[in-house]
Amino acid sequence: MLTIGVDIGGTKIAAGVVDPAGQILDKVKYPTPSDDPAALAEVVAKAVDELRARRGAVEAVGVGVAGFVDEDRATVQVAVNLGLREEPLRDRVRERVGLPVVIENDANAAAWAEARFGAGRGSDHIVCVTLGTGIGGGLVIGGTLHRGRYGVAAEIGHYRMVPNGRRCACGNHGCWEQYASGRALVAEGQDRARTDPRAAERMLKLADGVVEQVQGHVITQAALEGDPAALECFAAVGEWAGLGLADLAAILDPECFVLGGGVSDAGAIILEPVRASFARHVPGRPNRRLADVRLAELGGEAGIVGAGDLARH
Ligand code: BGC
Ligand code: NA
Ligand code: ZN
Repeated sequence: MLTIGVDIGGTKIAAGVVDPAGQILDKVKYPTPSDDPAALAEVVAKAVDELRARRGAVEAVGVGVAGFVDEDRATVQVAVNLGLREEPLRDRVRERVGLPVVIENDANAAAWAEARFGAGRGSDHIVCVTLGTGIGGGLVIGGTLHRGRYGVAAEIGHYRMVPNGRRCACGNHGCWEQYASGRALVAEGQDRARTDPRAAERMLKLADGVVEQVQGHVITQAALEGDPAALECFAAVGEWAGLGLADLAAILDPECFVLGGGVSDAGAIILEPVRASFARHVPGRPNRRLADVRLAELGGEAGIVGAGDLARH
């Protein structure tokens, strides 16, 4: 039986037809309408309509969204990077598409996909960390997605790394995602471009000389070419990411961390500094077993696959 998985991210909404083996058979993509909940549900419905028109019958729709989702998997309580509050997304989409709909946190969906079909296959204690616009988390323990009592377990992006630190859209200061997310990487790159344009020459060149165009893909491209300034940006973000993993290991003692989200597209360039920082900061070192830190395998498709698969289960 086929389902549709939808991934609502900060910048784009991607949807795909997912089969029981976790394969995506067809896919569509739209920009995320900003600060307009009704338009958001409408775009999701449009994507579903389009896929059904192309692929025929599907049984259910799973929607992964970058926010706190309640235990009924119906309401987005708050999505700080999407500007949603108390949004009855399940009902809005269900009314429009007339299929069973489940809403899931985006990182939970990605974690589920990686656990079943990706880098977490064969591991029993998995913590998935998505380094995207924000930082998302998902725990899959003993084959079960751990949602917590009220649906919002593993909101690790808002773990307070730095007391009185950088302001976060969630209302607190010092949240992990202000230091180790894709946005933090971009802030790092733009800061370098502004304060030391000579050192940041390669990034600026790739950005047509415009500081604001020093975005994730530019920094990644420069780093892949071996540009020292871009590599320093990844090293800085990787250091913060590893610190967070060390604290998570203290609490959860997982078998592996799976690193996903856009930042992980840089591969070894982010993985190596994260691993090194993790090993340097984990409590009990060097006399404890270290969780493996791996890259996600499903890339940008994990959210779609996971949401589609969770809609089936
Ligand atoms: C949100 C999470 C989401 C994560 C990644 C965070 O800011 O609070 O719900 O999973 O970003 O998108
Ligand atoms: Na989560
Ligand atoms: Zn926060």
